[in-house]
Amino acid sequence: MSYQIAIDGPAGAGKSTIAKKLAKAKKFIYVDTGAMYRAMAYYMLQNHIDPQNADAVAEKSQCADITIQYEKGEQAVLLNGENVNAFLRTEEVGNIASVTSQNPRVRERLTVLQKELAAKNNVVMDGRDIGTCVLPNADVKIYLTASPAVRAKRRYDELTAKGEECDLQKIEADIIKRDEQDMNREIAPLKQAEDAVLIDSSYMTIDQVVEEILAVSRKSMPDMGE
Ligand code: DC
Repeated sequence: MSYQIAIDGPAGAGKSTIAKKLAKAKKFIYVDTGAMYRAMAYYMLQNHIDPQNADAVAEKSQCADITIQYEKGEQAVLLNGENVNAFLRTEEVGNIASVTSQNPRVRERLTVLQKELAAKNNVVMDGRDIGTCVLPNADVKIYLTASPAVRAKRRYDELTAKGEECDLQKIEADIIKRDEQDMNREIAPLKQAEDAVLIDSSYMTIDQVVEEILAVSRKSMPDMGE
């Protein structure tokens, strides 16, 4: 039996930063499911598929072979054999992913892969539907959120640090739109699982959030130690 920590929440809540630190502390692998949805979105972009055309997205998604490999502890997403990590964290790809991830065929394909990874490894997995759909029996479930304004500022700082030009107000508007899409879609919408612990990170440091989740996991997985 493997151990599973599921972290769900909206865009920019700090899930990936926190999940990576937790995975390191627990010596689990980190599975960034958003990156898988982003790889699918990137594939649609590369192939000039209109994200709003559900039939075309469903059909094309069947030709995308998305897998995960670990290189020096870091997750590499392979799209048809090619490492596409460098292309995934743009606003354009994120906005397309929010639309194409609504597609049932896309979700089916990626969910199978995520369940397989969690069956074979101890995982910290983050996304939108991990505690509710992908790993309903996870040992620890966290719903991590923060206010839209705080999330937008974090994204803005992240992009500016990488030298990308961006507009804070547009980022906040995009975040609100993506929340709306992710929370209201028909299949696997973003919502807090009934048995998830809610953490609002708006006024917490990364280390405070990590410490709080470690405290929850000590209680739920006492035999795992730190
Ligand atoms: O966490 P992120 O910003 O990298 O996610 C990109 C998009 O992928 C997001 O808008 C919603 C979607 N997603 C999803 O539907 N289910 C997941 N488990 C993870 C991400």
